[in-house]
Parts: sequence; C-alpha cells; structure tokens
Amino acid sequence: MRKLLAVILCVAAVFLCGCSGEDTHALPGSAEDNLIVVGFSQVGAESEWRVTNTENIKSVLSEENGYMLIFDDARQEQENQIRAIRMFIQQDVDYIVFSPKVETGWNAILLEAKEAGIPVIVIDRYIERQDEDLYTAYVGSDFYKEGELAVKWLEDFLEEQGRANEPIRIVHIQGTIGSTPQLGRTVPLENAVKRHPNWVIAAQECGDFTKAKSYEVMSSILKRTTDIDVVYCENDGEALGAIAALEEAGLKCNPEDGVIVISFDATRLGLEYTLAGKIALNVECNPLQGPYVDKVIKKLERGEPVDRINYVDETYFDYRTITREMIDSRGY
Ligand code: AHR
Repeated sequence: MRKLLAVILCVAAVFLCGCSGEDTHALPGSAEDNLIVVGFSQVGAESEWRVTNTENIKSVLSEENGYMLIFDDARQEQENQIRAIRMFIQQDVDYIVFSPKVETGWNAILLEAKEAGIPVIVIDRYIERQDEDLYTAYVGSDFYKEGELAVKWLEDFLEEQGRANEPIRIVHIQGTIGSTPQLGRTVPLENAVKRHPNWVIAAQECGDFTKAKSYEVMSSILKRTTDIDVVYCENDGEALGAIAALEEAGLKCNPEDGVIVISFDATRLGLEYTLAGKIALNVECNPLQGPYVDKVIKKLERGEPVDRINYVDETYFDYRTITREMIDSRGY
C-alpha cells in the first residue's frame, strides 16, 4: 500500500529495460494510493486449467477489490519466475504470490523476500519442505489426496468388473517432472503397482501437462504396444492428447470394453469427455484460488493469523454418475 512510488519507479525501469513484466499493469495514479500491491508470478499457460487459474487470480485481485496486481507469465521457465520475484522484491510490493513450476530451487530467492520483509503466498503447487518457513501461506490442491482417490477408484472399479486379479497394463503419462501435481499423482499410482502384483506400468512418459506432448508420447508408445488396459494421465490436456492418439490407433476409450482413461482437473472439456465415457474418472483440481488468496491477504492486512495450509474444495466425476446438469452448473 505504502509502496506505490517504489513500484512506479521499478515498473518504469522494467519498461525502459525491456526485461520481463510484459503483462505488467498500467502505472497507478494517486487515487490508488490505498491499493495493496501484489506481484504474481504465474508458471505459464500450458493448460486450460492454468488459463482459468490466471483469469481467476486477476479478476479477484482487481482494483475494485483493493489491489494493484503486477502479473508475470514465466512461460514454464523457473529462472523467469526467480527473475520476476526478484523484480517484485526490488519494487517493494506488499505481497508476492507465486505458483512454483517445480518444488526445488526456491531457497535463495525466498530468503531474499524474507529479508525484505515481504510475505510470500505460494499457490497451486508446493515448494520443498526445507523451505517451508520461507512462505506465509499455501493456497491450492492436496495433490496426494487426488492421486490416492484416483487409485482407489481404479481398484474398486476393477473389483466391480471382476478383473481384480487379471493382468492390468497401465500407461502412465506424467506431468512436469518435479512439480507437486506430478509427484502427488504419481506416488499413489506407483505404490498401488507395488501392492498389486498383477498391475504393471507398461510405459511411463512425461506429457508435460500438455495435449500436444501427450499425443506425441502416446502415439510413440502405441507403436510399441497396443496391449493397454488403463491410461493414467495427470491432467485433462494429457488425457485429450492420449485419447486422440488411442482412437487414431483404432482403440476404444470406454471403461466397459476398452481402455480405462483416468484424468485430473475436471475442466469443462474434460468433463464433456467424462460424460461421453471416454474419461472414466476425472478428479477435480480446482483452479479458482483467487478468493482464497484474497481472504489470506485481507486477514494479514488486519493483522489476523492465517492458516499456513489452505486447501481448495475439490470433488471427482465418475462417468457412471456425471450428468449434463452437473457440467452446466459449474463455475469454470
Ligand atoms: O498445478 C496444477 C496442474 O498444472 C493442473 O493439473 C494442470 O492442468 C496444470 O497445468
């Protein structure tokens, strides 16, 4: 709030140097002196989920809501995120909000923020445990719970189908390696494979949370084998890419007599695929984190204590119970 002059000077410096800050908001006027200045480093725009997340944060941390938001899109590069955070520190913003691409590598820059006395709110993904005292609050998903839920659903479904002891060949398309959603969704699957001697991971490749990469890796896996029971994708973009490749290869994506596709996010398009039965289970990853961040900041402004971990509400959608009304009534 008190820091607009510094922000004006630094934003001007960014503008003159031409480095970073492409999406930086217009310079504030004096009428905006009471705005809370927030620097937000977003990891990129790799998925429909991410785009919704960005729009939500921007719409909630708005001027009407008492904020001046400085937005930076890191385009999937951790070094861009570090550079943006350093710029926010130089601008002496009131709060830093960031969605870390991966869990490691944040120690030095977060120490700089701490030394500058700027509270950091980590959103969406976590950072490694050793750095936990370097941020004020986390807002986002419980990715391990999401992974556990998906694996439990698969166990129950195979049991119901009478296939609990049959060989189950799983293709696993992973998200960005080292990111919390990848780790949280991968570990429960790998643990389940250890528990079930009849489950085997036939292929495990990185789809980087994108439809294009997933289509590419799935197509190449299909050149090696078409003996596939389950495709476990770590987001909807990957599921859509994998389904396109599977169908092109003549395989049916249908949990009753074809490939069982599991996905995460529950975006609108992902849920259309769930309604069509092409995605058997879609575990929600809620991108609407803006209201949670707003609540944390407003509490801090009032000098109230905040919860360190703030999980967003999430559910899941089963192809057997999802309805058109459910999709139409959703907020994103
Ligand atoms: O961190 C959230 C994950 O990242 C979402 O599952 C995915 O779609 C996004 O790109």
